[in-house]
Amino acid sequence: MAVDVLIGLQWGDEGKGKVVDYLAPHYDIIARFQGGPNAGHTLKFDGKKFVLHTIPSGIFRPDLINLIGNGVVIDPITLARELDFLRNAGVDYAHRLLVSRKAHLILPTHRYIDAASENAKGKEKIGSTLKGIGPTYMDKTGRNGLRVGDLLSPDFPAKYAALKAKHLVLATLYPPIDFDLEAEEKRWMECVDLFKSLQLVDCEYYINEAIAKGKRVLAEGAQGSMLDIDFGTYPFVTSSNTITAGVCTGLGVAPSQIKEVIGITKAYNTRVGGGPFPTELLDATGDKLRAEGHEFGSTTGRPRRCGWIDLPQLRYSLMLNGVTQLVVTKIDVLNTFEEIKAAVAYRYDGKESTQLPYDLCQTEITPVYESFAGWQQSLEGVDSYAEMPQQARQFVARLEQFLGARVSMVSVGPEREQLLHVISGQ
Ligand code: GDP
Ligand code: IMO
Ligand code: MG
Repeated sequence: MAVDVLIGLQWGDEGKGKVVDYLAPHYDIIARFQGGPNAGHTLKFDGKKFVLHTIPSGIFRPDLINLIGNGVVIDPITLARELDFLRNAGVDYAHRLLVSRKAHLILPTHRYIDAASENAKGKEKIGSTLKGIGPTYMDKTGRNGLRVGDLLSPDFPAKYAALKAKHLVLATLYPPIDFDLEAEEKRWMECVDLFKSLQLVDCEYYINEAIAKGKRVLAEGAQGSMLDIDFGTYPFVTSSNTITAGVCTGLGVAPSQIKEVIGITKAYNTRVGGGPFPTELLDATGDKLRAEGHEFGSTTGRPRRCGWIDLPQLRYSLMLNGVTQLVVTKIDVLNTFEEIKAAVAYRYDGKESTQLPYDLCQTEITPVYESFAGWQQSLEGVDSYAEMPQQARQFVARLEQFLGARVSMVSVGPEREQLLHVISGQ
C-alpha cells in the first residue's frame, strides 16, 4: 500500500491533529516526519482534550502504530511529559510508539541558544516557540547533531560534552538570558532514560517493509506550508520542510509511494509569531475571529493573529504539495459573521497578480477581496453536508473552483466526530 499525507496549507494550527485522529482508523501507521515540540496538535473526544507535541495523533486509537520519523527533532523532556499524560489517561503506548534512531535530539543548550538568539533580535525576532528547533536543525545540517541512536553508544557522554561546549561558545554571541542550565540538564539526563522503554527502529527499513506488506500509512505534517524553510515567508519560518516533499526525507519513503495528499485549511487564516500575513485583520473583525475561534497557541498560549482566507496563498500551497483533496476546518467559527471575505488576488508593484512575490516581507501588498454573505446561524444539529446552509456551501464551492481541488470534508467543531463528508453535487 501507499503513503497518504496530511499537511497544513497555511501558517500552522489548521486542525491537523483533529483530522488525523478522525482518519486514523483507516490506517495502520501514523507517522510524524518533521518538526518537533514546536507543534501543538489538539484532539478532543469523549469530553477530553489532549495536546500532542511530538507524538503522532493516532496514539489514542487502539492497535495503531505511531512512528516518530527521522526528520523529527525530539526533546526528551517534552516527550517524557507527553508520555506521562498518556499513562495517566490509561493509554497503552508501549508497543505502539516507535522512534527512529536517526531522529535528532534537542539539547538544553539548543533551547538556550534559541531563546538567547531570539532575545538578541529584539523587534526583528521570528517569534519562535523557543523549543530549540532552529539550533537543532542547524546542528543536523551542520553535521554536529546528536541522534537518538547515539544514546546507546559508549561515547555518548563525550559527544554530548563536545556539543555542549560548542554551544556555550556560540552562546557568548548573545546577551545572557535567565536559564537554569544545570537544572535543565539534570532533568534532560533523567528523561533520556525513557528511550530505553521505547522501541527504536530504522525508520526507512521499517516503513518500507510495512508498505510492502500492505500496511496503510498516514504521514502527519506539523506546522504549515507557509512556514516551510524553502517556500515559506523566510526568514519567518520554521527550520524544516513542512511540505509533502519532507515526507520522503523525513521517513525514508520514495516519492512514488505517495498517494493521497490531504491539505488542511481553516475557513479563515491565522498565524502565530512574526512575519508577513497579507490578509491579517488588525480590527474588530480580527478580534472577533480570535474570540470565536479561540485562537490562542496550543504550544505557547500566545494570541494568534487572525485574518481572512487567502486564496492565492492557498493555491501556492496546493501547487507545492500536490494536494489531491482539501479539508476545510473551523467553518463554524464564521457562523455569526454577516459578511465573509476571501482574498482572490494581490495588488503590489503597480500590478494585480495571483502569484506570491519573491519576498512577502519586503513587498507592500493590498489583497483584493471577494465578499460572501454569511449564513448567520448555528451549525449545531447539522449532520450532513447537504444540510449545511446554502451560503456555507456556496463559500466552499468557490474555494473548490478557485483552487481547482475537491473539498472532501468540512469540520464544524473541535470534537472528533464534528466532520462532514462532502459529496459532489450537494
Ligand atoms: P494543529 O496544530 O493543526 O493540529 O491545530 P491546533 O490544535 O493547534 O489548533 C486548532 C484548534 O482548533 C484546536 O483548538 C482545535 O480543538 C480546534 N478545532 C479544530 N477543528 C475545529 C473546528 O472545525 N471548529 C472549531 N470551532 N474548532 C476546531
Ligand atoms: P503546528 O504543528 C503555528 C511558528 C512559530 C514561529 C515560527 C518559528 O501546531 O501547526 P520555531 O519554534 O519552529 O522556531 O518557530 O514558526 N510555528 C508554528 N505556528 N503552528 C505550529 O505548529 C508552529 N510551529 C512553529 O510561532 O513563528
Ligand atoms: Mg497547532
